Amino acid sequence: MKTFYVTTPIYYANTLPHLGHLYTMIVADTIARHKRQQGIETFFLTGTDEHGINIERAAELAGRTPKEQADYVVSYFKKMTAEFRLDTDHGGFDMFMRTSEPFHYEGVSELWRRIAKSKTPKGNEAIYKGHYEGWFCAPCAEYKTEDEYAKPTEAGAPPTCLIHETPLDRVAEDSYFFRLSDYAEALLELYESRPDFVQPESRNNEVKAFVRGGLQDLSVSRLRTSVSWGVPVPDDPEHTMYVWFDALTNYITAIGFGNQERETAVGFEKFWPALHLVGKDILRFHAVYWPAFLMAAGVEQPRGIIAHGMWVDPTGRKMSKTLGNTIDLDVLNRHFPIDAIRYFSLREMVFGQDGRFGYEALIDRTNSDLASGLGNLSSRTLTMISRYSDGRVPSGVISEDKLLLAKRTGVDTDETTVSGFIEHARDQFLQHLEAYAFSKALETAWSVVARVDKMISDAKPWELAKDENQKQTLGAVLYRAAETLRWLCVLLYPVMPTATVEIWTQLGLGNSAGNSQTPAKIDPSSLKWGELAEGTAIGEVKPLFPRIDKSKTLAEISGRDQVQSPASHVQSRAMPDSADRPPAPGSGQHATEADAVAGSPITRETQPAPPMHHATEADAVPGAEGVTNFIDITDFTKVDLRVGEVLTAQRIPKADKLLLLTVDIGEEKPRQILAGIAQYYEPERLLGRKIAVVANLKPRKLRGYESQGMLLAASVGDEGKPVIATFTEDVPNGARLK
Ligand code: MSP
Repeated sequence: MKTFYVTTPIYYANTLPHLGHLYTMIVADTIARHKRQQGIETFFLTGTDEHGINIERAAELAGRTPKEQADYVVSYFKKMTAEFRLDTDHGGFDMFMRTSEPFHYEGVSELWRRIAKSKTPKGNEAIYKGHYEGWFCAPCAEYKTEDEYAKPTEAGAPPTCLIHETPLDRVAEDSYFFRLSDYAEALLELYESRPDFVQPESRNNEVKAFVRGGLQDLSVSRLRTSVSWGVPVPDDPEHTMYVWFDALTNYITAIGFGNQERETAVGFEKFWPALHLVGKDILRFHAVYWPAFLMAAGVEQPRGIIAHGMWVDPTGRKMSKTLGNTIDLDVLNRHFPIDAIRYFSLREMVFGQDGRFGYEALIDRTNSDLASGLGNLSSRTLTMISRYSDGRVPSGVISEDKLLLAKRTGVDTDETTVSGFIEHARDQFLQHLEAYAFSKALETAWSVVARVDKMISDAKPWELAKDENQKQTLGAVLYRAAETLRWLCVLLYPVMPTATVEIWTQLGLGNSAGNSQTPAKIDPSSLKWGELAEGTAIGEVKPLFPRIDKSKTLAEISGRDQVQSPASHVQSRAMPDSADRPPAPGSGQHATEADAVAGSPITRETQPAPPMHHATEADAVPGAEGVTNFIDITDFTKVDLRVGEVLTAQRIPKADKLLLLTVDIGEEKPRQILAGIAQYYEPERLLGRKIAVVANLKPRKLRGYESQGMLLAASVGDEGKPVIATFTEDVPNGARLK
């Protein structure tokens, strides 16, 4: 039996799932369902990438072990896949891979050993030990060369990643290297001999240009003392493997490479090579490093690598948490049918290019293409069959003696005109699908919807029904429409698995349970016109895609967004204007480093409220004993307290108490905030941490740096040790504390 293996990238276990992740799942799921329809035994793999410094840091910030952190994120990915019907229970992925699995450690170690034993095409050792010095971006999990980072604006500060705009880590340590430079020619030969190895073509050209530009050897390990959460290097446990080496290998360890149990359960021998679906941002790892590792290990190359573009917001900006323009999966799930989201994602993004995702466009497409398009074609066809043909699929045949009569109505008596059109559209649809041109494939399918819709409107079945002599003409029109629907169910099943099965059921063709004749199991290329049996009793006709009330839904979504991510309204506020702001603690004069954190002993202007032991009613009365300086609620509301996320944190030369932070409080640009906590907090500990920020404090300069806000911290003990106030639940940046 033929087999097929498709993979998504494995998702970093430091952030919760978002639209980008959902999209790669939808694409892979569509491909897998199409292959399964063709009767090909298909294995669809997804999972999480759980090692490395970034996960380690996220875990530390959250007060979890790295494994607990991964478990936490995995639970959200599993929730997403279940809710969007992408998991095994709904006919989606076959396996959720986790790189923290012991069998993965075994497999990766085996790959490493094989590479370490091998010689490069130039006769050198493929792995060698050396010393690495350079800059590393933890969120990218990638070493950055000079043209890949922004030089610091201040002396002594680290450069920043061009993608994440966060400071890079300086790495200077012994490391194992993979001799990538020896593989350039072999890689170029691979791309030449297999022009469809990387798709689409534009991306293929990009990869070739990168390799032609020259390859540098790749550092593939870190000292355990720097990164402990990773797979140990075989025979040298003082080193852990570079996370991308470990992550890429998941594609083979999941199915049995280096582990007999997995081999028996799935089968590397059976399924490899895979088709890798990736975002264009991680193409280099898949199309350059991974093939080189596999060459070195003597493992067959992947079936191919297809790279999709990125979702950007309706104004063309890249979606990011910092800009607050990401799409909330809960909102999507609440307001839109899953199949509408699938359809929109595949129709709107021209595969390989970036696509714009906006709720308005999603509503428009759902209403026009699904409610008025496919949904309407289905319900009008079925309603007319129930009304004019007693709920049974009529015969499509017009007998010789009725041909003339039929012709007079304008109905084409030659059935092959419409069937020929649809057969041709089917072939085109499949060609596009095989080339991953989802948008074009769907355009083709919708040309069928439009054509048959017009056929019905032109034939006016409601008029034909009035004339007993035109019964066969009416039957032919309805049959053609119903048969078209059957074909559309099969063609569109991989894209819209729920709606197509629903139409199938309404057509009277049974539901998926226990019926081998379901759209899930019919090869679209085997469809034959006319196989819809005359007399089939149709099922109950139900609306498929109710029209979405645009203004109501948009209002509901933006109402929720204000709670979820107040970024939009915060963004529109100007930077605090010093004139109408209350004076800073310490009035901004004689500012000391301790001023930079609320709660430190010097800034504490008020007496702490007494503990509420033995509270009585009297305690609740303003002015009660022990409370010396009440403020009015209006005083309190003058303080604009916001949730912020620490994006960067660094020490300041010659200021041993101060940390320089950039904090995202939901505004267009992150704030720069100085905090007198350097003696108590390592900068790395703060990255990604959610904190409380006084946002309307008059900006002031400390040690030559402007501080544009203040973070809140408890002051503990005699020395006033700061303990930063934080949140135990997930809160959006910019949310107001009140
Ligand atoms: N862990 C690595 C992949 C290792 S594979 C051996 C990784 N993880 S990721 O979670 O950051 O990204 C996973 C996938 O989501 C990537 O293919 C990426 O392109 C995709 N997307 C993330 N944001 C996206 C958009 N805004 N739009 C479309 N896809 C995007 O990279």
